[in-house]
Amino acid sequence: MSTAMSWFVIIGTLGTLVAAMALLFSNRKISGNETTGHEHDGIQEYDNPLPMWWVYMFIISTVFAVGYLIYYPGLGNVKGIGDWTELKQWQDEVDRHEARFAPIYAELAAMTPEQMAADRRASQVGRRLFINNCSTCHGVTAKGGFGFPNLTDGEWIYGRDFEAIQSTILNGRIAVMPPWGAALGDDGVNEVTEYVRQLAGLEHDTAAAELGVAKYNMFCVACHGAEGVGNEALGYPNLNNDIWLYGGEREQIAFTLRHGRNGNMPAHRDMLGEEKAKILAGYVMTLGE
Ligand code: HEC
Ligand code: HEC
Repeated sequence: MSTAMSWFVIIGTLGTLVAAMALLFSNRKISGNETTGHEHDGIQEYDNPLPMWWVYMFIISTVFAVGYLIYYPGLGNVKGIGDWTELKQWQDEVDRHEARFAPIYAELAAMTPEQMAADRRASQVGRRLFINNCSTCHGVTAKGGFGFPNLTDGEWIYGRDFEAIQSTILNGRIAVMPPWGAALGDDGVNEVTEYVRQLAGLEHDTAAAELGVAKYNMFCVACHGAEGVGNEALGYPNLNNDIWLYGGEREQIAFTLRHGRNGNMPAHRDMLGEEKAKILAGYVMTLGE
């Protein structure tokens, strides 16, 4: 906070403490009269001193407040001798949890993928890691969404083997589907769209699809393969089924062709480390069955 705000807080806080103590001590003096002079229906108000237990409680509270303000950061920008910060407390808690779970992670990560798949604890820990780190994009049930692959459907852009999935998690993936609007023109986009729908087994315009074949073989076959079989080693998706990352409607396919697509799976190496990535890979493998 700014220096002015800091002083405002310091003066406000200490001023309140001093004022409260001043009020307490100034009211400890008694007038010497037995009553305050207030009377109602024959009942008179005594002018007694404040009860001592109450006064001591007040003083103890004030001393506690002063101690607290010396140790913790309560006075504007003053840090306090305890060097306490929210961030440090949070980090300590994180470290404590990490230390507590480290042996479990190490034990699970030492398993083979087959052992992990059969181990109830591995799938529970995997599921929790997935929900915490992956569900924002892939969904809690890993069914994905537009642009985020469904990990349960048995189709894998990068393959279903453990190493491929582990590498996706650790290093991330950036897909490069180039834009073809300029190369194909509007008619070309429509024709190839019809051919892609034919490959996927969807209803299509046969004549237009026929015209699309040559263009597909010129521009697309290098990546998506003959008949749209794809290439898992390089991450080029199958086009020969009705599973879509960006939708199989005509407009959606045409949009993909015109503008290209660049799906980005972020690298999680720094965030998760090798062990958790392994457990996650083992967990994700079991989803696609
Ligand atoms: C350089 C390689 C490359 C070429 C050439 C290429 N693509 Fe792609 N294509 C990709 C990649 C990679 C993706 C995945 C994009 C992503 O995941 O964001 C993709 C995605 C697609 C998709 C979306 C699939 C889905 O599930 O939604 C379609 C449709 C498609 N390509 C059709 C074509 C057609 C038709 C051509 C030729 C005009 C073509 N691609 C040329 C690499 C290529
Ligand atoms: C910011 C969003 C985001 C987060 C977070 C994310 N992913 Fe992804 N993930 C993607 C996208 C987008 C792709 C598709 C990349 C592409 O288009 O080729 C992907 C692809 C994948 C694939 C490859 C799927 C295939 O068919 O080959 C796997 C496996 C995967 N993610 C697992 C995970 C796991 C496990 C986590 C949690 C550690 C995670 N992802 C977190 C966005 C995300």
